[in-house]
Amino acid sequence: MKERLEELRNEALEKVEKAENIKELQDVRVSYLGKKGPITEVLRGMGKLPAEERPVIGQLANDVRESIARAIEDKQTELEKEALEQRLREETIDVTLPGRPNQVGGPHLLTKLIQEIEDLFIGMGFEVAEGPEVETDYYNFEALNLPKGHPARDMQDSFYITEEILMRTHTSPVQARTMEKHEGKGPVKIICPGKVYRRDTDDATHSHQFTQIEGLFVDKNVRMSDLKGVLNTFAKKMFGEDREIRLRPSFFPFTEPSVEMDISCKICRGEGCSVCKGTGWIEILGAGMVHPNVLRMAGFDPDVYNGFAFGMGPERIAMLKYGIDDIRHFYINDVRFLKQFHQA
Ligand code: DAH
Repeated sequence: MKERLEELRNEALEKVEKAENIKELQDVRVSYLGKKGPITEVLRGMGKLPAEERPVIGQLANDVRESIARAIEDKQTELEKEALEQRLREETIDVTLPGRPNQVGGPHLLTKLIQEIEDLFIGMGFEVAEGPEVETDYYNFEALNLPKGHPARDMQDSFYITEEILMRTHTSPVQARTMEKHEGKGPVKIICPGKVYRRDTDDATHSHQFTQIEGLFVDKNVRMSDLKGVLNTFAKKMFGEDREIRLRPSFFPFTEPSVEMDISCKICRGEGCSVCKGTGWIEILGAGMVHPNVLRMAGFDPDVYNGFAFGMGPERIAMLKYGIDDIRHFYINDVRFLKQFHQA
């Protein structure tokens, strides 16, 4: 029995030594120290021994058990240490490697420009107003002094949804809507940014969808010089203090008189070059004094109130400000284009 126990000890210790991982070690524990293991079996046969040998064998069996258990424990600590060291080796981070920069997005150039224009006008006491992109013929045209059959309707080719509903062709309908809400009482001082739609073929300067910002100031005693002052402030803040503006007579059905505003060409400073087509001036926006019919239809008494309005295209402004040569760049969303303006 003694020999058997010694044999088991040696066998077990050898297996412990050879174990390559925790799982194998666990198997050794179960097969040698478990209840059904060979040592327990030896002890079970102890009854057959003479009484004086029993304590000796019992003592030895305990010894064998303990030495196997200790060996397993030591081996386990060793294996765990090895495993940890291996993981540390494999997971080492080289903190000296250069990092991989994250791709960070930013607001679209147009969004930023519109916000900048909003801020400029908010600084002059204007509020931001909005209106629907799917508009009625009434607000898009009639309320702006463009009755059905008016030839100036042809200036804006429209996407009609029904006879009376269309995609708005400009942001001017927000004028009429906002004035109505004021129920004949001024002042109304708003700018209205938003998307507009025209049945145009897309090319470098045309897009079937683009953005506009409308402005409207209605109060008692509003004069053309107020319009000029506001537009001059806007132009200088947007394009630079050294730029001049000029107002040219024009026609819009909703304003009388109507003007178009030009700014002096940055490239040639008025001398004439290819950017300004030799004129020294670049057209920026349309404006004028609100037509009495427009005031009247929106519930304002034109004998008491008057006002000015203007409309501009942020795409055109961005193109001039940043030298962008094709309106389609705004909509294609090529990040190589867009990311140039993240810091702008
Ligand atoms: N609605 C005009 C357009 O889309 C722009 C415009 C011109 C708006 C003159 C105005 C204005 O308010 O007074 O072409």
